Amino acid sequence: MSREWVAWHEGYRPGSRLARRLAIVRRLIRSALDHAPRGRIRLLSLCAGDGRDILGVLADHPRAREVEGLLIDRERALVARGRQRLAALGLSRLRFVRGDASRSTSGAPAVPAQLVLACGIFGNVSDRDVARTIAELPRLCARGGTVIWTRGRFPPDLTPTIRRWFVEAGFAELAFRTVRGSTAAVGAHRLRSAPLPFRRGLRLFTFLPKAQRPSAGRPSRAVRPAGEPAQGVSARRRPPNRARARRPPPRSGSPRGRAGSRGRR
Ligand SMILES: C[S@@+](CC[C@H](N)C(=O)[O-])C[C@H]1O[C@@H](n2cnc3c(N)ncnc32)[C@H](O)[C@@H]1O
Repeated sequence: MSREWVAWHEGYRPGSRLARRLAIVRRLIRSALDHAPRGRIRLLSLCAGDGRDILGVLADHPRAREVEGLLIDRERALVARGRQRLAALGLSRLRFVRGDASRSTSGAPAVPAQLVLACGIFGNVSDRDVARTIAELPRLCARGGTVIWTRGRFPPDLTPTIRRWFVEAGFAELAFRTVRGSTAAVGAHRLRSAPLPFRRGLRLFTFLPKAQRPSAGRPSRAVRPAGEPAQGVSARRRPPNRARARRPPPRSGSPRGRAGSRGRR
């Protein structure tokens, strides 16, 4: 694999758009940990990068030592950096593994997870894969588990559709935040229906070649539509625009069809 993602992480300069996105992700992680049921908190971070989102929170969170599970990334240098940070924090119940997070099997040791991180994925894969991943998340989550995700709102903005797909998959929206001066957005959804049985061997997504990614050539600086606030749009105050929302692709390989997901609402 190229060093592309190592270079991408250099974008986390203080004051940068990525740093502002990180601050929002961390706040939502902190809230998920604060509200997690008593006992061990199982974590699955998909495409974790160097893990700075969750590890930044665990550095001072009172429940840090109750968190167990996996961070998965396939870039060797980022995994090495993340492991160093993990060791420095003394969080022995967490493992940083170098592997393919797009395969459900890779996450098996951390399933069912109370907290699933899917940050930096949805802008790099096809819309169909975004839909597929969301539809399969109830197989990775524990009852009441939270998923935190990101996606740019560059046009055509897929985030209203993503939020609808989460609801159709049995999740309730906890938060939807936009990042000041940026197209980036962060969502948090909690599984409100029963988790689905875990299945090994599922492919959730495939990172597209750079030029084919939805984010390719799109502005990361915000171009604010008239009347839209710059930051902190809450789902309850501003529900997804269903008129614009696209229909999800058929859910091949899933035992639940669309009728099944309707039944869960
Ligand atoms: C945009 S970065 C996001 C990193 C981190 N989640 C964040 O938000 O800071 C995408 C990450 O996905 C990783 N990646 C891409 N395809 C992967 C795969 N199939 N399995 C595991 N990691 C993958 C890259 O190495 C990179 O670190």
